[in-house]
Amino acid sequence: MSDTAQYLIRQEPFYQPLHEEVALYQAAWDERLPVMIKGPTGCGKSRFVEYMAWRLGRPLITVACNEDMTASDLVGRYLLDAGGTRWLDGPLTTAARIGAICYLDEIVEARQDTTVVIHPLTDHRRVLPLDKKGELLEAHADFQLVISYNPGYQSLMKDLKQSTKQRFTALHFDYADADTEAGIIATETGTDPALAQRLVQMAGAARNLKGHGLDEGISTRLLVYAARLLKRGVAPRAACRMALVDPITDDKDIRSTLYHAIDALFEVQSDARPVARSGDPSSVPSQAG
Ligand SMILES: Nc1ncnc2c1ncn2[C@@H]1O[C@H](COP(=O)(O)OP(=O)(O)OP(=O)(O)O)[C@@H](O)[C@H]1O
Ligand SMILES: [Mg+2]
Repeated sequence: MSDTAQYLIRQEPFYQPLHEEVALYQAAWDERLPVMIKGPTGCGKSRFVEYMAWRLGRPLITVACNEDMTASDLVGRYLLDAGGTRWLDGPLTTAARIGAICYLDEIVEARQDTTVVIHPLTDHRRVLPLDKKGELLEAHADFQLVISYNPGYQSLMKDLKQSTKQRFTALHFDYADADTEAGIIATETGTDPALAQRLVQMAGAARNLKGHGLDEGISTRLLVYAARLLKRGVAPRAACRMALVDPITDDKDIRSTLYHAIDALFEVQSDARPVARSGDPSSVPSQAG
């Protein structure tokens, strides 16, 4: 398979637009402007980039950044094998060569001396110097750089330099409003919409605790996990504890507050039982947690 074909997204990813992000990204793409996608964990940033790559018919190369990552991990290095030394392009170089969208996920995790290698690609010349190889690579006309960034987490030590930030346009993401988020969960998992609504209510309770003992609220990703457990027949209380509460906090008091919120939410449900229809694969066992 050619490099390009291997990175193409063949099936349309499900993506529920929230605002004008599709049109705005399209405009940035038309101008080949670099895009920074900001927002909390699990709110749909990566899904959006996949969707846009599919829509534009461009290959997508994603790199999960971490603090041990070096410039060579992005750009490439010489490898020693039986035939001698051989140059191997890194993901950034491959993307620049084949005209892919290069998505650097959690860019703040990378050290600043690593991050600066993207600078020349964002200048008007759009080049990538491969110093070790002595090559100055001109980016393919369809190359585009996209980074994601979670503004909640970084400390002063871990922030992007202004000279990096100011090479990007930015789209601000957040969790969808309650109805839209319930729709996302229902579509993504096939769960009953009424049940999806309840999960979203639970997330609302936790998101209110952000900054009051919780670093981050419950993400859309975790709501999807909870819905999948429910579909497997896990009782609502157990599913919500496992997917929504226990991953996000080690604090006993906060946990107990959130457990109570779950109990309150599903107490109402066991009276009304609006979601448990026989033969419905998304119906939940009647006895809760
Ligand atoms: N707008 C949306 N349309 C469709 N699915 C969504 C949307 N938003 C969130 N999701 C669901 O939430 C899950 C998590 O989203 P995603 O992986 O894109 O998060 P992220 O913002 O990239 O998080 P992280 O910063 O942790 O990488 C997706 O797998 C999908 O199920
Ligand atoms: Mg992501």
